[in-house]
Amino acid sequence: MNCASCPVASATMGDGFHTFMSSGTFISFEGIDGAGKSTHIARVADLFRQAGRAVVLTREPGGTPLSEKLRELVLHEAMDPLTEALLMFAARREHLVQVIEPALARGDVVLCDRFTDATFAYQGGGRGFDWQVLAELERMVQQRPVDDATTGHAGQAGYTPEANHTPHARHTREGGYPSLRQPDLTVWFDLDPLIAAERLASARVPDKFESQPAEFFAAVRAGYARRQAEMPGRFARIDAAQSIDKVGADVSRVVSDWLQRSAA
Ligand SMILES: Nc1ncnc2c1ncn2[C@@H]1O[C@H](COP(=O)(O)OP(=O)(O)OP(=O)(O)O)[C@@H](O)[C@H]1O
Ligand SMILES: [Mg+2]
Repeated sequence: MNCASCPVASATMGDGFHTFMSSGTFISFEGIDGAGKSTHIARVADLFRQAGRAVVLTREPGGTPLSEKLRELVLHEAMDPLTEALLMFAARREHLVQVIEPALARGDVVLCDRFTDATFAYQGGGRGFDWQVLAELERMVQQRPVDDATTGHAGQAGYTPEANHTPHARHTREGGYPSLRQPDLTVWFDLDPLIAAERLASARVPDKFESQPAEFFAAVRAGYARRQAEMPGRFARIDAAQSIDKVGADVSRVVSDWLQRSAA
């Protein structure tokens, strides 16, 4: 079978990257600074492009002009922890509305260098900020478009606050809040903070998070582990201490496996 977004006959392909999907694919890449996200997100983007899929490569905080301005503030200015969390989620809201939801509605592959798990890991784990407040902000910001939440199909680009606060949007399919937009798959590059620090030592001038001590990153790592324990279904943990090639092979495998599972 051929499709517009995938010119290759999917029945003949075994690696999952060629699988036809009627709506978009949202994959996030997570891990502490220096874990390998940027190295491997580019490789995954190439694999999807080779398979004929349109790819949106983006990042958080950031991804829109306004969100990039908020990124500059959050990464370089000292501020109250709640202010920091609010700015992170404000940037995320803009990114979702302007970039992520429209791309998923088009059927594109969205590869995002960090998403909400990073806010839980850094603000919740690293800074010790209230996990439940973050969960409240997540619920407020990541409600899915109504037709997406209720039918399972990609919603319209008209992703308005009004549309997202109807009774339908509040109603959930699995108890809890499954109508929240979450990545379909989260690839977590798990790495000892000391190894990450060695890798980054000569890489660049650190921002306010990167200049934190190793204990901070140990707490961030624990934050990621807590998040994985809360939502194990979408997490794939990668041992990021391996060589770049081995990590790359693991990443290709988990993405390919997930694509094949989700198409089944
Ligand atoms: N498996 C690996 N073994 C050794 N070095 C690696 C490995 N993966 C990445 N590196 C190197 O470590 C450095 C950090 O990698 P990268 O920029 O991909 O990390 P990152 O997770 O994107 O970090 P940040 O969150 O700070 O953007 C780079 O110089 C990269 O070449
Ligand atoms: Mg990076």
